[in-house]
Amino acid sequence: MNNKKVCTISYGCQMSERDSETLTAISNNMGYSRTNDPAEADLVIINTCCVRESAENKIIGKIGQLKHMKDKKPSLIIAVAGCMVQQPGILEKLQKRAPHVDIWTGTFDYHKFEELLQTSQEGKKIACISEKETEVSEAVPLAEKGKLRVNVNIMYGCDNYCAYCIVPYVRGRERSRPKQIILDEIKSLVDSGCREVTLLGQNVNSYGKKDGFDYDFSDLLQEIDKIDGLFRVRFMTSHPKDLSDQLIAAVAGGEHLCEHFHLPFQAGSNHILEAMNRNYTREYYLERVHRILEEIPAARLTTDIIVGFPGETEEDFEQTLDLVRTVPFTQAFTFMYSKRSGTAAAGLPDQIPLEVKKRRLQKLMEVQNARSLAWRNNMLDQHYEILVEGQSKTNPESLTGRTRGNEIVVFKGSEDLIGKLINVRIDSANSWTLFGTMM
Ligand code: 5AD
Ligand code: SF4
Repeated sequence: MNNKKVCTISYGCQMSERDSETLTAISNNMGYSRTNDPAEADLVIINTCCVRESAENKIIGKIGQLKHMKDKKPSLIIAVAGCMVQQPGILEKLQKRAPHVDIWTGTFDYHKFEELLQTSQEGKKIACISEKETEVSEAVPLAEKGKLRVNVNIMYGCDNYCAYCIVPYVRGRERSRPKQIILDEIKSLVDSGCREVTLLGQNVNSYGKKDGFDYDFSDLLQEIDKIDGLFRVRFMTSHPKDLSDQLIAAVAGGEHLCEHFHLPFQAGSNHILEAMNRNYTREYYLERVHRILEEIPAARLTTDIIVGFPGETEEDFEQTLDLVRTVPFTQAFTFMYSKRSGTAAAGLPDQIPLEVKKRRLQKLMEVQNARSLAWRNNMLDQHYEILVEGQSKTNPESLTGRTRGNEIVVFKGSEDLIGKLINVRIDSANSWTLFGTMM
């Protein structure tokens, strides 16, 4: 009997998390059971992110730490996968820095992971990084069975080439999965206990367009909405330029489609939006937001914002602040611009000094945090339906669940509620969490 263990450490976005599940599932099929403790693992998989330099530094530190573990336990297999490894020309540098790593693999080769693992079990080091994406590979295993909430890819890659972003270089061209395959995957997940899916794509609003499907994202959503036993459907990320009236109408009319739009605006000034190659204006963004709120007054909006893009002046930044004060975002993910080699913006003049970026980020967070708290305070004493997810991480005596708008609610209740929809009254709030009582 084999009692080997795999520990997967995942960095980055939901896509990357989803890929980590595939790598873990392949390892499970090869006899490795899952552990969260790298010290007891026989295989450690690090699935990487390269969207910002800060993520890369953290990962490089982690890979360094694993060297000590490997010194103590030479049979330990270390695999480093994903976006960071996929960057053109980076492999040699990484291999020099971390010769103790056994398997290097990129974003287009997950379906070969079993082979790679076998090679490394024979004591050989191996690197496998295809330069170009393959057709959508359906050969990889689905997510782990039995999970309540599951991420489901509906498309891969990105064709937008925002000037700051490395994603199109490490995830390839946009390609969508046919509707039937997605529907079958979700049905089988529901059969094994899943109640909520999040449909993933870099730009879900362009689903199927490039592949010439005769249905679009709103059609896909409407069909998923009909799947028996599924309580909730979420999706991300929406690119504002492709957010159609049909999508808004589909969400408005859907039964299980959550009224939450993650709609990154990135910058508030038209001059910066143009330099970022975002293909919309501030006015267009505001019009789309207006349309969403008109059709779906209960809609929740969240966003991503970058400060300190090359050439961003104080006036440009003021326009970003102004947008945050205008649009009722419940949450914003805010980032300092990070120069990524190979992207269009890396070569731009007027890179912004770190102190300026820090100051702008601080100010932006202050403004948004106050807005987020005000939102949460508005929810006090009101009743919301939540899907109960499990024990609260911060307080093991409490349970946690999420509203349709994706707000986390902590409340007291018994474990048999996990996986059920219940109603709670909101009693108090801080900037991140709501506390409630079951009704
Ligand atoms: N620097 C800072 N933030 C970035 N993002 C993408 N690329 C960069 C970069 N080079 C942010 C964007 C995107 C989110 C996932 O990460 O806001 O929406
Ligand atoms: Fe990056 Fe823009 Fe594609 Fe999003 S849409 S992944 S920000 S290039």
